[in-house]
Amino acid sequence: MAQLWGGRFTKETDRLVYEFNASIRFDKRLFHWDVEGSRAHVRMLAKQGIITKEDKAAIMGGLDSIEADVDNGRLPISDEYEDIHSFVEANLINRIGEPGKRLHTGRSRNDQVALDMRLYTRQVICDTDGELRHFLCTILSIMEQNVNTIMPGFTHLQKAQPVTLSHHLGAYFEMFRRDRERLSDILRRMNYCPLGSGALAGTTYPLDRDMTAKALGFYGPTRNSMDGVSDRDYLLEFLSALSIIMMHLSRFSEEIILWNSNEYRFIEIDDAYSTGSSIMPQKKNPDIAELVRGKTGRVYGALMQLFTTMKGIPLAYNKDMQEDKEFSFDAMDTVEGCIRLFDGMLATIRFNKDIMERSARHGFTNATDAADYLVGKGVAFRDAHTIVGKIVLYCIDKKCAIDDLSLDELHEFSKAFDQDVYEAISLDTCVDKRLTAGAPGRSAMEKEIAQCRSYLDGSDPLSVDL
Ligand code: ARG
Repeated sequence: MAQLWGGRFTKETDRLVYEFNASIRFDKRLFHWDVEGSRAHVRMLAKQGIITKEDKAAIMGGLDSIEADVDNGRLPISDEYEDIHSFVEANLINRIGEPGKRLHTGRSRNDQVALDMRLYTRQVICDTDGELRHFLCTILSIMEQNVNTIMPGFTHLQKAQPVTLSHHLGAYFEMFRRDRERLSDILRRMNYCPLGSGALAGTTYPLDRDMTAKALGFYGPTRNSMDGVSDRDYLLEFLSALSIIMMHLSRFSEEIILWNSNEYRFIEIDDAYSTGSSIMPQKKNPDIAELVRGKTGRVYGALMQLFTTMKGIPLAYNKDMQEDKEFSFDAMDTVEGCIRLFDGMLATIRFNKDIMERSARHGFTNATDAADYLVGKGVAFRDAHTIVGKIVLYCIDKKCAIDDLSLDELHEFSKAFDQDVYEAISLDTCVDKRLTAGAPGRSAMEKEIAQCRSYLDGSDPLSVDL
């Protein structure tokens, strides 16, 4: 048991209590950020004359050697330390002696952990954004190749009107574009530095909080020291954004699973992204999509956990806040992994374009257009709706599509039909006539794709300069 605070105690901590209290098992992943934060703090202490230049040099050398040894495996981060902060400080004192004891001047683990978690989260936000950007490139390249691929659009999972594969995927492009915007909003709001908040009430040392904030890539210091140590809003916002990303991925997964089913056969998932059955030799299962859909619950769980943990905490720091890490880390890892896998799966999917088009043809997806055609010939829309409804009933009985009927048959329902009806209700026409902004018509879609392309060309992934 190696801890930083024995002075006031007359008894050893109970072993179980120590283990219950310790966080090193999971906060070891903050190591690099902890060292980075200490470097900025020490430079500032020396500049302010709070520690000497010699002490600063010794501490910086010690931190470098600890970091190098952790990286090359010579110094394992072992569970005998209470947390990552104790690990670094104890090893520093062990290596350089007296100067090491000055590292924690004007700092508390409360502002230290608030800083480490923010630095780590900020990096993950940028990484997640990079994954999303790559994923958007994959979606867009499929969109570009499928402006003419007609498929049924659904409402209530019933065939509704014809759309194109490009248009359908364009909906996902918008979802993940918004997800990226959410990440940059969060980054803008969270990028303030809690270091210098001390335990809760700042410190009596003349710290230069602007200096440490700038050195660590923040816009500036947080404004209130009690809020600085106890604010976890940014994590809740990030977990919310991650939950929304997972909800989007889960909806997409659901479609992939349906489209890959024996009934739809719209797509075929590549062998590299499918799995077999131990008993049924014919099976090729969409496990990746199912797992992504399943892991959505896990990410929502992390959001609910932190909301619940935070709801009753009085100001300022309380140990409850240590519980901000494990589930959040899990959610961050899960989402990054899911985006990457989904991206790879999507990029290698084969689209059965003929089956998609046939499905649109045989689902009466042009019924609205047939009614609109009659409206063009002077029939009132409500009457046109009834006429086409009767035609659909007739076609269901005959097992054919509306455009398979002869003009004579159509005349049984309305004399307003003419030879030009076939052209008017062909799937190509149905799609192409939908030209309002955001609709699937070819020229509307081409404009949309050009906009998506210039968005991606101009949008660098989020990053913060250190
Ligand atoms: N392991 C702690 C956490 O994650 C670090 C802060 C400890 N501060 C304290 N006053 N015990 O929150």
